[in-house]
Amino acid sequence: MNFTQPIPTLCREGDGVVILDQTLLPHRCETRRLDSLESVAAAIRDMQVRGAPLIGATAAFGVAIGLSDDATDARLDAVIAVLAATRPTAVNLHWALARMANRLKPLADASRHEAAWDEAERISREDAETCAAIGHFGVDLLLDLAAKRNGPVRVMTHCNAGWIATLGAGTALAPVYEAHARGVAVQVWVSETRPRNQGLLTEWELRQAGVPHSLICDNAAGILMTQGEVDIVITGADRVALNGDSANKVGTYLKALAARDNGVPFYIAAPLSTVDFNCPDGGAIPIEDRGSEEVYTVLGLNADQAVTRLRLVPADTGTANPAFDVTPARLITGIITEAGVYPPGELAALRPAQ
Ligand code: MRU
Repeated sequence: MNFTQPIPTLCREGDGVVILDQTLLPHRCETRRLDSLESVAAAIRDMQVRGAPLIGATAAFGVAIGLSDDATDARLDAVIAVLAATRPTAVNLHWALARMANRLKPLADASRHEAAWDEAERISREDAETCAAIGHFGVDLLLDLAAKRNGPVRVMTHCNAGWIATLGAGTALAPVYEAHARGVAVQVWVSETRPRNQGLLTEWELRQAGVPHSLICDNAAGILMTQGEVDIVITGADRVALNGDSANKVGTYLKALAARDNGVPFYIAAPLSTVDFNCPDGGAIPIEDRGSEEVYTVLGLNADQAVTRLRLVPADTGTANPAFDVTPARLITGIITEAGVYPPGELAALRPAQ
């Protein structure tokens, strides 16, 4: 399937990039131009761009933007350090920065700026191809389930791992879009994903694409599985360790536990750029703490249709906000990558040649 993003999540425009600002979605759809290193770093940190593959590609463009006046070794190291410090869990950020450093370091200073743009654009194109391949391999799982059912295949997902988290069709949603394009009936359970409600972004995407879906509260996932309403769970990932343990948006682990208890297959869909071959297991994955405001507030529309942040409790309420959790490999049926679907224990075989 050739998937075209309805609005590009990230594209070059002259000496800067234009992003789809995800902090306003699904309430308002606005783009934003970034043309300084600081604005790119802030966009990643503040989640104007989010989702592991998109974070990586944005950081790559950030390197190009950061080298516009000075492309010495010292500047390159400084630019990479600024971008690397924006978000800790999604390893695609570090993967993209390492790839930029490997490409640029051997070059003369004068060639680096243009080469950085070229490499960032290559990363973006490859991500779109990777999403298509994940869709291609993942759809077979849905076709198998469709063959055993009369009704639609009921897919549960968490957070947003659709087109707005990538440069292509998405990761977890790529097989869904592929099935929909082939005329296979699918129905998606979309969990809201507190505290930031990225599930609302998934709902927005699926609504636009005409894919049948239902928004659920995060806590409804378990009962739907016990009632036999879920055929498969597919989520994305932010970092997959060598042994297959997978970090994804907080709440993923609870879905995997409920899936195992109910005999529902649980898959992670992620590009190989999300696999951290240097990370032995989930215990070594850094988990981002995003502070308390996301927990004690919610964003929505008021009666005048204005985007409004509401405080749920006093601002000094004690909170905890781990943004990700780790699903152990033993709960994961398989990992859908651009190279095929693998049992979590077999990832080591995919380590790229050094
Ligand atoms: O904090 P976010 O919104 O960047 O977290 C995103 C997720 O956890 C996604 O599920 C993951 O990055 C996969 S995106 C294709």
